[in-house]
Parts: sequence; C-alpha cells; structure tokens
Amino acid sequence: MSKTALITGASSGIGAVYAQRLAARGYDLVLVARRADRLSDLAARLQQDRSVSVRTIAADLSAETGMSSVETALRDQQIDLLINNAGMGPISSTADLSDEATAQTLALNITALTRLTRAALPGMRTRKSGTIVNIGSVLAFHALPVTSLYSATKAFVLTYSRGIQQEVAADGVHVQAVLPAGTITEFYDAAGVSIDNFDKSVFMTAEQLVDAALAGLDRGEEVTLPSVHDLDLWNTYDTARQNLFGGTQNGSPASRYAAA
Ligand SMILES: NC(=O)c1ccc[n+]([C@@H]2O[C@H](COP(=O)([O-])OP(=O)(O)OC[C@H]3O[C@@H](n4cnc5c(N)ncnc54)[C@H](OP(=O)(O)O)[C@@H]3O)[C@@H](O)[C@H]2O)c1
Repeated sequence: MSKTALITGASSGIGAVYAQRLAARGYDLVLVARRADRLSDLAARLQQDRSVSVRTIAADLSAETGMSSVETALRDQQIDLLINNAGMGPISSTADLSDEATAQTLALNITALTRLTRAALPGMRTRKSGTIVNIGSVLAFHALPVTSLYSATKAFVLTYSRGIQQEVAADGVHVQAVLPAGTITEFYDAAGVSIDNFDKSVFMTAEQLVDAALAGLDRGEEVTLPSVHDLDLWNTYDTARQNLFGGTQNGSPASRYAAA
C-alpha cells in the first residue's frame, strides 16, 4: 500500500517542491494552503505525471477553522509523513509590525505547527511508524532587528522538534527539523520585501533545499542544515548548548552575583 504525506504550504516554494519529490517517490498526497487554484493545478499535474492520488485542502492555517479542518484530516486518514512547512516571516521591526501580522505569524508558525504535530502523533505512535518534518530556519539561532518575531517562532520550531524527538524515540516515529538559509521562493514577496534586495549568492533554489533535506531525512538526521558545509560548526554549537545547560544545574547563584 502506498504511503500518504500531508504537506502544508504546498501551493508554492519549498512545499510545492516537496509535493513533486514525494510524488516521485510514490507518496499519495494531501496538499494544504490557502490558494485553492494553485493546489488544484499542482494536484492535476502530479496525478497525471506520477499516477498518485492527491487531495487538496484549502485552509488558512492561521485561523481556527483552517487549523481544525487539517487536524481532522490528520486524525481521520492515515498520514505517514507530515511536512509542517507553511510559514510566514514579515520582515519588519516590532514597532512597525501590525497586531494582525503579529498574531498571524504566531498562529501559523507556532500554533498550527504544534496542533498538526499533536494531531498526527497519536496515530503514528499507535502504528509505531511515521515521520514529521518541521521546517524551521537558520534564524532559529540568530535574530536580526527586523526578524525578532520570525526568529523567535523558528527557535520554537527547533526546540519543539528536539523535545518531541526524545518523546517519540522509542515509538518508531522520526522527527526532523530542517533549517533552511535563504531560499529562492515567494517568501520574500509575502514578507513585503523583494528578494532583489538580498545577496543572491547566499541563496539556493527550493529544489536544492528540498533535495538536501530529503537526503538528510534518508540518513536519519534529526536536524538538517542544508546550507552548512562544515558539519563541525553545528556539532560544536550543539555540544556547547548541552554544556551550557549542564552548567546551569547548580542550585546556587554564581559567585559574580554575590553581594559585594
Ligand atoms: N525562503 C526562505 O528563504 C526560507 C528560509 C528559511 C525558512 N523558510 C521557511 O520555509 C517554509 C516555506 O516557505 P517558502 O520559502 O517556500 O515560502 P512561500 O513560497 O511563500 O511558501 C509559503 C507557503 O505557506 C503557505 N501559507 C502561508 N500562509 C498560510 C496560511 N495562513 N495558511 C496556510 N498556508 C499558508 C503559502 O500558501 P498560500 O499563500 O496559498 O496559503 C505557501 O504555500 C516557511 O516555513 C519558511 O519560514 C524559508
């Protein structure tokens, strides 16, 4: 029996490439985004070219009705692979960001990802099989004056993924956090800043990003950094993180804070 993948944010960019690559691997698909026309076009192409079954769900994942409709799909249908990809990243200072954009970013990047993960996990744990891919960002560990909110949401994605990995390690469920750097997609249009304002030499294509992420998944990676050539950079960072946490477990104030 063929496996089924549910991909959020499949109407463009990274999500649309995941749809193409997973269809090529024989996955049936459930494609989620707001733009129904884009999803239908992609579904028709994949059904014709790859002979896979494709269902589309037009849903706004920053709104309650959209989130709950996709939660229902995840509970009612066996989903073997969930790609939590939909995300937005307004490029703006906190002062200039509207309340509405702030709420939408938190809802889409954090609440929807959390709720869909929670909806997918019980079935996967019962079946002792399943994969969740959470698309974060290298901004998970770096904040700029115009990315405070976005960086913080992606730090959530990384930390949440790392915790869930430990929770489900014994259940046959794999969780991969993918941390892209600049990738050429419509993301920047949606963010309100043309991609032409950026140095393209540090950008890769969505195809390169997804192919690297899938190679990392095939290798069983828990955290995949497609653009990082020297893996020691990540290993050193992650070891330092663990050592820092160890250094917090003392139960007493550090001597530098002692009263003079
Ligand atoms: N591009 C980069 O440089 C970059 C770097 C690091 C991380 N990322 C991450 O990669 C992921 C994919 O982004 P992308 O680069 O492929 O950008 P994109 O081309 O703009 O794709 C974003 C996708 O998310 C969907 N989406 C946006 N708001 C939504 C909502 N409220 N409800 C449902 N779906 C929604 C969009 O579809 P609709 O508009 O049709 O709803 C679209 O399919 C995001 O999580 C992003 O944070 C991107």
